[in-house]
Amino acid sequence: MKLAELHAIAQAMVQPGKGILAADESAGTIKKRFDAIGVASTEQSRRDYREMLFRSEAAMQGCISGVILYDETIWQDAADGTPLIKLIEQAGSIPGIKVDEGTQPLPSCPGETITIGLDRLAERLARYYQRGARFAKWRAVIDIGDGIPSYAAIHTNAHALARYAALCQAAQIVPIVEPEVLMDGGHDIDRCYEVTEFVLKETFQELYYQKVALEGMILKPNMAVAGKKAAKPAGIAEVAEKTVKLLKACVPAAVPGIAFLSGGQSDQDATAHLDAMNKIGGLPWHLTFSYGRALQAAPQKAWAGQAANVAAGQAAFSHRARMNALASRGQWDA
Ligand code: 13P
Repeated sequence: MKLAELHAIAQAMVQPGKGILAADESAGTIKKRFDAIGVASTEQSRRDYREMLFRSEAAMQGCISGVILYDETIWQDAADGTPLIKLIEQAGSIPGIKVDEGTQPLPSCPGETITIGLDRLAERLARYYQRGARFAKWRAVIDIGDGIPSYAAIHTNAHALARYAALCQAAQIVPIVEPEVLMDGGHDIDRCYEVTEFVLKETFQELYYQKVALEGMILKPNMAVAGKKAAKPAGIAEVAEKTVKLLKACVPAAVPGIAFLSGGQSDQDATAHLDAMNKIGGLPWHLTFSYGRALQAAPQKAWAGQAANVAAGQAAFSHRARMNALASRGQWDA
C-alpha cells in the first residue's frame, strides 16, 4: 500500500468547496427513482440520465470532487462512444465505485441485515482500479426500532466494513466507510445520537483491528437527526451541534474527511445542516457531502426522461451542487 497516494486522493475528495456525487443507485433503487418521474428504467435511460449529470460542466468542474458509480455505469459508454468514466475524469473529478452487493437478513437478529460482497472483492477491486476507480464505497445499514439495533448486528456490520476497507487499501483504492443509521423510525435525535455513537465506536475499533490506515479513508456517516416519523423534528442548529459533538467523540483526527449521506433529508435541510456544521468550525477533519437524493431529486424531476429537458436537468443539478459546495465552506446563505 502506498499511503501517501491514498492520503492525497482522500484529501482531494474532501477538499473545501467540493463534495461527492453518489450516483451509485443499484438497479432496484434507480428503478424506484425513475418510477417516481414516470421513466422506464432501461440500460439506455440509466445511461442517458447519468451522462446528463456527468456532462454538467458547472457542477462537475466546480463542485464535485468525486462520483460514486454503480457497476453497470463504470462499464458504460456515452451516446458518442466516450466511456462515462472518462467524462468524470475529463471534468477533473475522481471516479469511485460502490462495491457492496446489498444486504441480507441476519438469521440471529430478526429485522436486521448484514451487507454482503466480500467474496472475491480483491479481484473485483483490481478490475475497477484498472478501469480508473480510485475510491470505493460500502454501505452498512443499521435500523432503529423496538429492541434494535442489536450488538450482534452492529458488530457484524462493523467487521465487514473493516474487512472491505483493508481490501481497498491493499488494492490502492481509498475506502469510503459508510455505516448508515437509518432515519426511518419515530425515534428522537438523542436515540439517533446514542445508536450512531455506538456504531461509530465499533466501526473504528474494527478498522483498527484490520490495520486500516485512517489517513487513507473517508467516513460517510449519517447526521444525528430525529426519525422521519418523530413527534418532534430537531432544528437545524440542534442537528449541527449534536452531530459535531458526536463526531468529535468518535472519529479520530487522522481521518482526512467526513462526507455525509443525505439519508432522506430534504434538499434544503441537507444543505443547511452541512453549512451549520461548517459554520461551527475548528474541526480536525473536512466536512462535506456525499449526497445521492439531496443532489439528484431536483435534476430527476426537471429531466423527466426527456432529451429536451437535459439543459434544465443540468441546471437543477448544478444549483444543488453549488449550494452544497458553499455549505462545505460554511458559506451558504438561506
Ligand atoms: P443519500 O444521500 O440519498 O442517502 O445517498 C447517499 C448514499 O450513497 C447512500 O449509500
